[in-house]
Amino acid sequence: MNIGIVIVAAGRGERAGSAEGPKQYRRIGGSAVIAHTLKAFLDWSKAGPIVVVIHPDDKLLFEAAVSGLAMERVTTVTGGATRQQSVLAGLQAVAALEATHVMIHDGARPFVDRALLDRIAARLEAGDDAVLPALPVTDTLKRVTEGRVVETISREGLYAAQTPQSFRLATILAAHERAAAQRSDFTDDCSIAEWAGVPVAIVEGSPENVKLTVRRDIIMADERLSAAALPD
Ligand code: CTP
Ligand code: MG
Repeated sequence: MNIGIVIVAAGRGERAGSAEGPKQYRRIGGSAVIAHTLKAFLDWSKAGPIVVVIHPDDKLLFEAAVSGLAMERVTTVTGGATRQQSVLAGLQAVAALEATHVMIHDGARPFVDRALLDRIAARLEAGDDAVLPALPVTDTLKRVTEGRVVETISREGLYAAQTPQSFRLATILAAHERAAAQRSDFTDDCSIAEWAGVPVAIVEGSPENVKLTVRRDIIMADERLSAAALPD
């Protein structure tokens, strides 16, 4: 098994406030978000070739962000206008690097940990074609229309999806290529596998593995890393 890694980092980070630049290049705990994310995979012994998907305007930002990391196994490719397009570019690149499996991870999730990666890899090794890390939803969910609650949705059986969503490479590449010709609104990769009829196995996600989405997420991530660096 050769597990390729695709890290998508070509977004513009509109919800985090793009005035300060794309969120994956903002610094938390002294390094860029993308450097933390990349390091988690560089430090994981089972990682094969790593492809980072970046925006064409961000080449210099990326180089500055990862200077100091061992980049021999890392290549970059240019992303597209949607996450779906960026992932497809990454999958095509990792397929050329002889990967048999792939983990597709958001660049904006810097707190992914080795224990989670090991749990996912174990399911790939056991023969699952698609593996989703997810956590049970703990909040009660409400559907709201025009400022009023119209429905309470039972959280029974509901899970919040994380990344890296992981696959047998040939399976997800074929599904993504077929999806690209038909729909452009998939926001994660397991939904493309589901759409293609591939069964998706669940593993327990990690509560730490949050996606930095809004400005406050970045401030809190920085505080968390700065606090961790302080002596007792
Ligand atoms: N992504 C990407 N290419 C895109 C859009 C998103 O590679 N065209 C990546 C982002 O860089 C991010 C991940 O997909 O690491 C998850 O997307 P999201 O959190 O939505 O990031 P952005 O699209 O950058 O943020 P926003 O939606 O707020 O603009
Ligand atoms: Mg987005």
